[in-house]
Amino acid sequence: MKKKFISVTLALALGLSLTACGNNGGGNAPADKKEETQEPADDGAEDAGEDAGTEDTGSTGDVANKDKPLVWFNRQPSNSSTGELDSAALSFNENTYYVGFDANQGAELQGTMVKEYIEAHIDEIDRNGDGTIGYVLAIGDIGHNDSIARTRGVRKALGTGVDKDGNINSDPVGTNTDGTATVVQDGEIEVGGKKYVVRELASQEMKNPQGATWDAATAGNSIGTWSSSFGDQIDVVVSNNDGMGMSMFNAWSNANKVPTFGYDANSDAVAAIAEGYGGTISQHADVQAYLTLRVLRNALDGVDIDTGIGTADEAGNVLTDDVYVYREEERSYYALNVAVTADNYQDFTDSTKVYEPVSNQLEEGSHAKKNVWLNIYNSGDNFLGSTYQPLLQSYDDILNLEVEYIAGDGQTESNITNRLADPNKYDAFAINMVKTDNAASYTSLLSQ
Ligand code: BGC
Repeated sequence: MKKKFISVTLALALGLSLTACGNNGGGNAPADKKEETQEPADDGAEDAGEDAGTEDTGSTGDVANKDKPLVWFNRQPSNSSTGELDSAALSFNENTYYVGFDANQGAELQGTMVKEYIEAHIDEIDRNGDGTIGYVLAIGDIGHNDSIARTRGVRKALGTGVDKDGNINSDPVGTNTDGTATVVQDGEIEVGGKKYVVRELASQEMKNPQGATWDAATAGNSIGTWSSSFGDQIDVVVSNNDGMGMSMFNAWSNANKVPTFGYDANSDAVAAIAEGYGGTISQHADVQAYLTLRVLRNALDGVDIDTGIGTADEAGNVLTDDVYVYREEERSYYALNVAVTADNYQDFTDSTKVYEPVSNQLEEGSHAKKNVWLNIYNSGDNFLGSTYQPLLQSYDDILNLEVEYIAGDGQTESNITNRLADPNKYDAFAINMVKTDNAASYTSLLSQ
């Protein structure tokens, strides 16, 4: 039997090393990556049964729910105030993982993309010619690590960040017309010997009255309010994601020719680059969606977790380390980000296209159909709905997984957990929480 990880060592490592937003550095593959990973599938199936302390007969009833493979994705179990990772949730059982992307690397890319755009367009960007480049910022969710990282990344690159407890403050500023706010400061950019002030004129969390965050409609309304207060002081619009960015672009910036920047590289945002959308960041959803289901497939097959990831499977699926990192101490796979601008957007026009190196069909004979319960936290989320889920739906066929997709309302965990009434019907679970603090709402159901 081939155990992928030793659980005791793992729990210890997790306990000692989990840190807030710990997405820096780290290796590219499981530390105990095996040499001989192309093991026969029947051997693998036996391992899965043994891992769970029972023979795997292909039915769902044999393995206790608490021992079934579990993957958290898109919303990493963590404390929404401090960002500290939830080690109990991430090591719920030995087949538990998180799949997301490197938030800090992507945030830095987004900030740099905005700064470089300003520098390259300095002659026309200052719309009222007052020497101050004003920007507004749409914040997704003040308690979500990805959102926090993006706010920090933009403030860092533009010099508008101020320190709070050793990190850049990511709080929304509200409004900052005259530059006197304390949450941010005025930055400075020098181009061609001329200095410009950079000011965050306004920022707020885009949460709707019912409580859904990253809310595109709220962002569309906010740009209306901001543009009537600030008018041509707004030279740049920045958003933590494309859903909100496109809502602001369609409501105001396109008509007013104000460059708008988002994140996610959803197809509509990439297409809008041709019309003046400033740019976006691909978080390699094509790699994340694959990893989300692949770790479950591997755990169900009882093969080394690196199979079809860092090590080619028998069908030839493999990822190279320029598209993801695995950090064992966090039990987390992170896809790497790529900036998408006017220079390269033609390569990103379809965000739902599977990633070619991992697009090879697995044989059903050696990878029997398994049932997976998977939820999307908010059916209204642009990224998850228009990019991530369509990708999952392509990979579930490739990996022979029968996935039941549950759509949440983005507001309450119970709306989703109510639909996990009978975990016995499933072989594995893929969870996208409403709030990153709420992992226990799910694991308690699986532990019953
Ligand atoms: C995406 C956002 C999305 C959020 C949902 C982020 O990674 O960039 O667009 O709204 O995940 O959790």
